[in-house]
Amino acid sequence: MNEQLVAQAARALKEARAVVVFTGAGVSAESGVPTFRDALTGLWARYRPEELATPQAFRANPKLVWDWYEFRRELVRAARPNPAHLAIAELQRLHPDLLVVTQNVDDLHEQAGSRDVLHLHGNIAQTKCFNNCQGTPTLVDISGWTIDPDHTPPACPHCGGWLRPNVVWFNEALPFDVLEAALEASQRCAAMLVIGTSGVVYPAARIPLNALARGIPVFDVNPYQSQFSQDAVWLPYPAGEVMPRIVEAYARL
Ligand code: OAD
Repeated sequence: MNEQLVAQAARALKEARAVVVFTGAGVSAESGVPTFRDALTGLWARYRPEELATPQAFRANPKLVWDWYEFRRELVRAARPNPAHLAIAELQRLHPDLLVVTQNVDDLHEQAGSRDVLHLHGNIAQTKCFNNCQGTPTLVDISGWTIDPDHTPPACPHCGGWLRPNVVWFNEALPFDVLEAALEASQRCAAMLVIGTSGVVYPAARIPLNALARGIPVFDVNPYQSQFSQDAVWLPYPAGEVMPRIVEAYARL
């Protein structure tokens, strides 16, 4: 590992009055949650994301889409934070103004101890009414329910319509307040860590792009090239390996 890059990141974070940590599926990969594109293996290999993660797909085949999310939900339920999540939480404790913005629908940042995480794409553990019959969003707690696997998705207790996961699908708007807060932070911060995201999904990708356009230090933690690697300082390592090193170096400054 390039120690100079680690030290450079630690110093930039220390000197920045406000920091944004922007994460994607790659930060949870080492916890055993496959990245979105890698998740389409095995049973699900014959589908494309657009066939499973859109309102149109759900309308056309609600059972298929519900069952796919149930499979993802099980993976997330079994997952525990990895050293990257723990290092990010530690960095938030050490830094006076650090905001975590994630595209992930798991709660591994929170399990690791991060506070006030902005979830741009929702939360897979939550369920809501597809019709939002009681206003937006109509969350329904199904934790005590016995769900018949032959009759999915379960029905909304208010309107009898379909229930669906509380995640943002392709062709859907992001939660307005969350996106506004994240974009505002990307205009205000003085350094950004981008961790485990390919950068191909909008509007989320605007967050690092804003930071790059402002010319502040941006570090891209990703073992493979992302949309940001060329313009940011690229740390080409798995997040679980490099993030603890950066935080150790930060704590020594
Ligand atoms: P992707 O699956 O597009 O990209 C995951 C990124 O993580 C890739 O660039 C990998 O190289 C990188 N990666 C893999 N292992 C890693 C590791 N150990 N450490 C660091 N990086 C690693 O996931 P996202 O960019 O999060 O949207 O995708 C964005 C959105 O697209 C998701 O939130 C989801 C998906 O469609 C919605 O659900 C709306």
